[in-house]
Amino acid sequence: MTGIKGLILSGGSGTRLRPITHTYAKQLVPVANKPVLFYGIEALVEAGVEEIGIIIAPQTGDEVREAVGDGSAFGARVTYIEQDRPAGLAHAVLTAEKFLAGSSFVMYLGDNLLRDGVPGLVERFREESPDAMILLTQVEDPSAFGVAELDEGRVIRLVEKPEDPPSDMALVGVYLFSPAILDAARKLEPSDRGELEITEAIQGLIDEGREVRSEVVSGWWKDTGQLADMLEANRLVLDDIVTRLDGEVEDSRVEGRVIIEEGATLRNSLVRGPAVIGQGAVVDGAYIGPYTSIGDGVRVLNSEIEHSIVLSGSSVENLGARIEASLLGRDVKLTRSDSLPKTMRLLVGDRSEIEIV
Ligand code: G1P
Repeated sequence: MTGIKGLILSGGSGTRLRPITHTYAKQLVPVANKPVLFYGIEALVEAGVEEIGIIIAPQTGDEVREAVGDGSAFGARVTYIEQDRPAGLAHAVLTAEKFLAGSSFVMYLGDNLLRDGVPGLVERFREESPDAMILLTQVEDPSAFGVAELDEGRVIRLVEKPEDPPSDMALVGVYLFSPAILDAARKLEPSDRGELEITEAIQGLIDEGREVRSEVVSGWWKDTGQLADMLEANRLVLDDIVTRLDGEVEDSRVEGRVIIEEGATLRNSLVRGPAVIGQGAVVDGAYIGPYTSIGDGVRVLNSEIEHSIVLSGSSVENLGARIEASLLGRDVKLTRSDSLPKTMRLLVGDRSEIEIV
């Protein structure tokens, strides 16, 4: 079978990552200084899938278009498909009907990260051409996912976010489908959360006696929809980096695996990897600890940060305390002044979270 298309979902409202996602598509939040979405595009291209449709939301679509362009930077041809509301994964598939034009396709949730990509899975789908192929992994909290009930490796039932999970095998956000999934999606009614669930559409295929195969993920998988998962994904990706010091390093120590991008300056500081410092960033009198991604143009002066993600354009100055397990958005300013009285002065957006420890 040739001509498998890709469908990447980069819509949704990202409620679990607010306030970052008030102004930003969650799929553009960077992991090790690269938007999560880019890992998905690269994974598809690596699996030989170059005709890619990206589902975007009206609020954040322009930003996704700007970041990905026509796809040529990735070796892909990208078509944008606007989904007018976050009405579910099966609704996204139906929205993409014209783009799919009767092809089989890989559906990839744009906030998912898979260490080993999808080449083996796509290859197997090409060879066996079932109606659907799903990817599974063992999780600790199956009720937060779609869950598969298996009988000797055969998928017999799928349930979305079950209160009483039939197993601990969760559906990973990568699916392969023949065009039969469109008919199954058309038959759905909205679920309790008001969405057309892809899990139910696949169950529809099983009920019709169609071939639904499964494979268990090799390597790690992360759905980056929440802060803790985002930080863990950052940790997992940074664990695999190779040292590259392209920026300027003056009177500083760099320990472990660290990337310092071109145009970044490190002065009187200690960076203990794995960590990445983005282009044009200035780190002065600072400690950057393990599992930290410092974005482009960020300034860290007289402060300490570890196990965190700082997005581009932000500054952290004279803190006198260490930041950890944090995600700072774009152009955030965090500073401490010497003035009295010793109080806190905050200008904080809606739904921000601040924990003073
Ligand atoms: C979606 C799917 C769920 C799957 C998960 C993987 O959940 O509905 O079946 O396990 O992605 O990331 P959502 O992220 O929409 O809650």
